[in-house]
Parts: sequence; structure tokens; C-alpha cells
Amino acid sequence: MDGTINLLLEKYSHSRRDSLIPILQEIQEEVGYLSEEAIVKVGNHLNIPTSKIYGLATFYNQFRFEPKGKYHIQVCHGTACHLFGAIRIIDIIERKLKVKAGQTTRNGKFSLEIVPCIGACAQAPVISVNGEYHSNLTEDHLGQVLIDLNGE
Ligand code: FES
Repeated sequence: MDGTINLLLEKYSHSRRDSLIPILQEIQEEVGYLSEEAIVKVGNHLNIPTSKIYGLATFYNQFRFEPKGKYHIQVCHGTACHLFGAIRIIDIIERKLKVKAGQTTRNGKFSLEIVPCIGACAQAPVISVNGEYHSNLTEDHLGQVLIDLNGE
């Protein structure tokens, strides 16, 4: 991970503070999340205090600060999925798996992320587990998906 971040920062060798978000996005894309170490490095590179970086990254709501779980669940919260019950789906997953959006369970098995439209609106509501879509999701279907994931 260290090498990846260093390489990435080299690309932004003449960068200024307005490069912060693109740098964080690239790190997340490459490494999967923003570690404390990554944030410190970026802070040193751009001369921005880490507390400011955390504040900004948290505000943008698109960054993860923990590695993804073995099962990474993405719940679509685009307009169609919202209308078809995305909030209820998020609530059920949070309760049943004891994980909050943006977090990973302690045992590293599940992580939950809320994402904008994932392009399957005709089949709303939709979730994705490690990239596999579950669409037209009912509460029963969701319950079964969670049982299957928990039981393996
Ligand atoms: S709004 Fe959920 S797939 Fe488009």
C-alpha cells in the first residue's frame, strides 16, 4: 500500500490543495479505503492538517476509512430505488448485520455502502454484493440473501 500511495503522490508532485479530492479518490480506487497512514501522507504532501482532510472527506460522504468486508454490500439510493424502499433496505441490513453505512463489521465479514444510481432502475430496488446484483428486492428476498451470506 505504501508504494502505491507514494507513486500516486508523485503524479501530483506539483499539486496544490485543490488536488485533495482527486488524490483521495484515486487512493480509494487503488487501495479500497483511506487509511490513517494514507491521510497523513496526503496531508504532508499538500501541507494540509489531517484533521482538515478528515473533515472534508467525511463531508463528501463517498470515502471509506476502513477496508471493505469479505462481502461488500452496496445499496443503491438513486431516485428509483429511493421510491421503492431503499431506506427500509438500509435499515434492515444495518439492524441484521449490525453494521452502519460506511463501516465494516468487526469480524471483517460485511461492509455496507450507500451508492448513487447503479444503472438498473427498472429493477429497483437494487443492491449489489461483491458486484452481484440483487434486484426487485423484497424484504423476504433480502432476508434470504442475508441468511445465505451469514450462513456460508
Ligand atoms: S436508482 Fe437504483 S438503480 Fe437506478
